[in-house]
Amino acid sequence: MTEVVIQSDADAAATAATLLADRITRDPELVLGLATGSSPLHLYRALAERVTRDGIPMDRLRAFALDEYAGLDPEHPQSYLSTIRREAVEPLGLDPERVHVPDGSLERLPTAGERYEEAIALAGGVDVQILGIGTDGHIGFNEPGSSLASRTRIKTLTAQTRRDNARFFDSPEQVPTHCVTQGIGTILAAGHLLLFASGAHKADAVARAVEGPVSAGCPASAIQLHPRVTVFVDEAAASRL
Ligand code: GLP
Repeated sequence: MTEVVIQSDADAAATAATLLADRITRDPELVLGLATGSSPLHLYRALAERVTRDGIPMDRLRAFALDEYAGLDPEHPQSYLSTIRREAVEPLGLDPERVHVPDGSLERLPTAGERYEEAIALAGGVDVQILGIGTDGHIGFNEPGSSLASRTRIKTLTAQTRRDNARFFDSPEQVPTHCVTQGIGTILAAGHLLLFASGAHKADAVARAVEGPVSAGCPASAIQLHPRVTVFVDEAAASRL
């Protein structure tokens, strides 16, 4: 079932931070699915405040990121490993050893998906998965046309996504062309999905995800197949619902 919560970014972050803080307090070994992008940033900040204020134990939490660029130096500031460290691991006080990001190194690419699926399975699966949504309806880096049953694997980025993400690089050509991403099937196996979107540019993708037909044409529409989804949207992103 999909629950849609229409709130400002700050209020949505506070609501979701309370939900996560309660879950983590009850289960300090929770497995959290992390997302990159601007959408979850408010949540990471709100949760970090709760962690400091309420002394929530974060060091036993395990976490898995959704995706990583292929062929980008992991120490590059825009690699998702660097991004997740900077935006989530450090502010939340997570143990870096317990935080996993897909391996985007070219030499090990052929086995990256399989190894990541094994690591998730070994952790017992993801309990709560944080998600953003691309303007073309992608989740993780599952671009339109991705199989709804897909698992972690190598994908080609669309021109639209490379344009959207060019703002993080010095020039558009520097945006990698490929990535390793959890599949839609991988994401759907998480216990609870929390999807965040804000701004009018996300309105169309949100409407297709929540109310459109379930179709590989809009990968995020697969959330309709999941029994427990909370979609946090601001007024602008909810405007086409
Ligand atoms: C990237 C990430 C996605 C994210 C999307 C939206 O492509 N791979 O996981 O959801 O961007 O980003 P933003 O939240 O910045 O709009």
